[in-house]
Amino acid sequence: MKEIILGITGSIAAYKAADIASQLTKKSITVNTIMTRSATQFITPLTLQTLTKNKVYVDMFEEIAYPDVRHISLAQRADCCVIAPATANIIGKLASGIADDMLSTVVMAIKNKPVIICPAMNTAMYENPITQDNIRKLISYGYQFVEPKEALLACGDVGRGALADIDTIIESILKSEI
Ligand SMILES: Cc1cc2nc3c(=O)[nH]c(=O)nc-3n(C[C@H](O)[C@H](O)[C@H](O)COP(=O)(O)O)c2cc1C
Repeated sequence: MKEIILGITGSIAAYKAADIASQLTKKSITVNTIMTRSATQFITPLTLQTLTKNKVYVDMFEEIAYPDVRHISLAQRADCCVIAPATANIIGKLASGIADDMLSTVVMAIKNKPVIICPAMNTAMYENPITQDNIRKLISYGYQFVEPKEALLACGDVGRGALADIDTIIESILKSEI
């Protein structure tokens, strides 16, 4: 594993992605972080840029500054893509073929590489039949999931929806194959 895409979406668990980025970078893996606009409300691109010693992507159209078409070259170079935490929204977008920001567009452009999705959301959102249908659909297309844990959630509810342990996510990335 040489190069990875780390997608971060707008969940309260977004701060935990910093630990994932740091651990992978310490293993000499190049981490290309892509954050949704919502994710930047929870954790700053500067944190990820500093931990990964690499550029962080948020804006699709900033790629105009590069000589290559960046959303395609990132997708082609990566050995693996992990989205942690993954919101109900990104899961829905991926299941529906929506590519309206940098992260959803890059994931759509990934071919024959593992994409690992680590959901984190309120229990009702996770158990919502639409979310569950979206997860089943993505699994049927070969996307991999690291199940959320049962825990006392940030919203005060107790139930399934907390981001899986970082060690479990790292292990899934290192073991991942298509
Ligand atoms: C404080 C707060 C916490 C949130 N936590 C979550 C979460 O853990 N999971 C989730 O699916 N959405 C969560 N949301 C809602 C998402 O941020 C919202 O659906 C957003 O549109 C997701 O955009 P993205 O998928 O492009 O990052 C939260 C919103 C707020 C204000």
